[in-house]
Amino acid sequence: MSLVSSTEMLRKARAGGYCIGAFNVHTLEMLQAVVEAAEEAKAPLILQTTVGTVKHLGPEYIAAMAQVAARFASVPIALHLDHCHDYDLIERCIQAGYTSVMIDASMHPFAENVEQTKRVVELAHRAGVNVEAELGKVGGVEDELVVDDADAVLADPQECEEFTALTGVDTLAPAIGTAHGMYKGEPKIAFSRLEQIAGRVDVPLVLHGGSGIPEEQVKRAVALGMAKMNVATELRIAFSDAIRQVLVENPEENDPRTYMKRAKQAVKAIAQAKMAMCGCVGKA
Ligand code: 13P
Repeated sequence: MSLVSSTEMLRKARAGGYCIGAFNVHTLEMLQAVVEAAEEAKAPLILQTTVGTVKHLGPEYIAAMAQVAARFASVPIALHLDHCHDYDLIERCIQAGYTSVMIDASMHPFAENVEQTKRVVELAHRAGVNVEAELGKVGGVEDELVVDDADAVLADPQECEEFTALTGVDTLAPAIGTAHGMYKGEPKIAFSRLEQIAGRVDVPLVLHGGSGIPEEQVKRAVALGMAKMNVATELRIAFSDAIRQVLVENPEENDPRTYMKRAKQAVKAIAQAKMAMCGCVGKA
């Protein structure tokens, strides 16, 4: 199979009341780990990279790795660009083979967010590529994106409806109280706000800040219309902790295959657990 656009898998997920795991990867082994998890779970999969990772590895290398994964996989796989507000970089990623992109112009006023998103929708749809956009502001730290808790803003339901109609965006990430990074306490998800948004917007909704959300809260958000859950921080922690543990136990270890193997297993276990809570197991 080739990489697929995430549009169809996400529409099916919203209609079917389940959610697809979208996993931020930074290395070949992380990518292989989530692909193996999806294969075993028979779950559709969204691989995604931040702008920082695109700059670190190059979009062409990332797309090539994802294309090889898709060729050997029996489950549908999409490759998504997470939080980008650089039109030229979005264009380069699409040219490289990304099948889904996020234009995040949520730091701008509504009208500017609409204009920037529309421009990306025109570009992406010519290539059959899915577009995600954000309304409100998700707090926390995601690579180069830093939003103080005090600046985090919940999405407005009326604006979500207008924005979706004006832009033709395929998927919408409304800020509902989750945050990037690990939570200090329990996340305070504004479920009634989510319910209002889902009542006005029929495109699949995206839950950002998937690391550390308790299972019952994920399930509740999915039942209300969240069709994609982004997970980044928990994977990075599992990957890094596993490598650290190997090297602390054996400071002489110098074979990357040894510690990468352990890191891969750790990432795979997290991805499997997230897929189970998303309800996408067996949905490929
Ligand atoms: P976490 O880092 O909290 O898992 O959030 C991931 C995310 O939402 C990426 O856009």
